[in-house]
Amino acid sequence: MYEFSSDKIWLATGENRIYLEPSMANRHGLIAGATGTGKTVTLKVIAESFSEMGVPVFISDVKGDLSGMALPGEDNKHILRSIETMGIEKFRYRSYPARFFDVYGKKGLPVRATVSDMGPELISRILGLNETQSGVMRIIFRIADDRELLLLDLKDLRSMATYVGDNAAEFKTRYGNVSPQTVGAIQRALLTLEDEGGDVFFGEPMLDIADWFATDEDGFGVMNILECQTLALHPLLYGTFLLWMLSELYEYLPEYGDADRPKIAFFFDEAHMLFKDAPKALTEKVEMVVRLIRSKGVSVWFISQNPSDIPESVLGQLGNRVQHALRAYTPNEQKAIRYAARSFRENPSFNTENALQELGVGEALVSVLDEKGVPTVVERANILPPRSSMSDAGSELIEEVMKNDPLFEKYGENVDRESAYEALTEEAEEAAEQKAEEEREKAEQKEKEQKQKEEEKKKKEEEKKKAAKKRSSSSSYAGKVASSAASSIGRELGRSLFRGIFGILKK
Ligand SMILES: Nc1ncnc2c1ncn2[C@@H]1O[C@H](COP(=O)(O)OP(=O)(O)OP(=O)(O)O)[C@@H](O)[C@H]1O
Ligand SMILES: [Mg+2]
Repeated sequence: MYEFSSDKIWLATGENRIYLEPSMANRHGLIAGATGTGKTVTLKVIAESFSEMGVPVFISDVKGDLSGMALPGEDNKHILRSIETMGIEKFRYRSYPARFFDVYGKKGLPVRATVSDMGPELISRILGLNETQSGVMRIIFRIADDRELLLLDLKDLRSMATYVGDNAAEFKTRYGNVSPQTVGAIQRALLTLEDEGGDVFFGEPMLDIADWFATDEDGFGVMNILECQTLALHPLLYGTFLLWMLSELYEYLPEYGDADRPKIAFFFDEAHMLFKDAPKALTEKVEMVVRLIRSKGVSVWFISQNPSDIPESVLGQLGNRVQHALRAYTPNEQKAIRYAARSFRENPSFNTENALQELGVGEALVSVLDEKGVPTVVERANILPPRSSMSDAGSELIEEVMKNDPLFEKYGENVDRESAYEALTEEAEEAAEQKAEEEREKAEQKEKEQKQKEEEKKKKEEEKKKAAKKRSSSSSYAGKVASSAASSIGRELGRSLFRGIFGILKK
């Protein structure tokens, strides 16, 4: 073990050395600052120390510069100067046990979530649904759950939505009103999501959060790195997916209570994406998850350019703070600086607001929670240099790590298990078949009746025109025509019902 992380995490040096108290890590943290000021490096330094303490880590990699965790760092001027000025002894570059995940399956093991699992709230958020539409989404899920229909992927959800829409009248008394317009809007949102490629991460095998809890043979906590460069292009998708992971962690972990170190550290980069235009109910839920997950031993770190992008109720839950430089060109930015400055316990030796604008790269205002959980007075300090590489690990190394990962077999292949789509399709086929059968029976009955009528008619005619022998009846031919027409109508109906899978029980 290095001096960086024996029982405290040496994070920065100002007037004095600043240590992060691992027993207070579950009181969460914030890393903020303008672009290029050193947020990612700060994240790396903290994550590396957790790993060295045997604490597994989850990180979302929005820029692709975190894969370098798998490689030892290299000398550069800034680092050499830091080592000297901070008096870091025994500094050693090193790599960390990395495990790569990627929802698109390119730069890591594919991670997926099932629609059923994600639940109506998060799915509605991803789809950008309004209050009414979210209400209908909840009904769709309720009916699927009551009918024990599995919603694994988006095609399940689409067929389920259609099914519910088409049978709205039947469900009305039990579940509430479902208007065709609302279902239509949900369908359109689903199509848009599919067009954007959002369907790739709905399905199975679903991410098993237990897999994050691993250490290597040296006892280092594994760095679970989620490649998010593409995902983050869709902020709603990205934010919600990460929120789902956090909720999964919460559901999975038992109560842990206070301990000398967290069970896992969760770094949420570009966290502002989660909160952009978020409805109040969602923000409240995030605030609740962040608060409750503390007792499960999870240390959550939000990384964002500006603390004012994070709702105050959530910000209030983040006890350990590293604030890099902020720029103030506009009145709004000046306001944001005042906001950031106010969140610190003032240090009499400098003006927080001014310092915030003067900080250099790799420098920050730092306040952490002491052993008693009290925020320390803010200090101006230099963040330690990272031990792993600051560059991209490169696709070859990532692929090698991925292929050699014991989890490769588990997550490598997408599986399409029988679920709502298949069940509803089968039901539709059966219904179509039954209808065709009924039609056929009807046609046969009709044919019979027709035949009888014809025969009676024939009899009458024969009786009437016994004398006239020239004409013979064409009734049997007519019967045949009627019969084949009827059965072809039956088949046609069957086929068109089958084609309109989603309209299965259309009356
Ligand atoms: N503590 C540090 N020690 C050494 N070098 C650092 C440190 N902090 C930052 N740097 C240097 O500054 C560069 C930019 O830092 P970093 O990538 O962490 O910024 P960022 O705030 O994450 O930027 P962005 O918002 O663009 O993601 C790094 O590549 C590194 O060269
Ligand atoms: Mg960064």
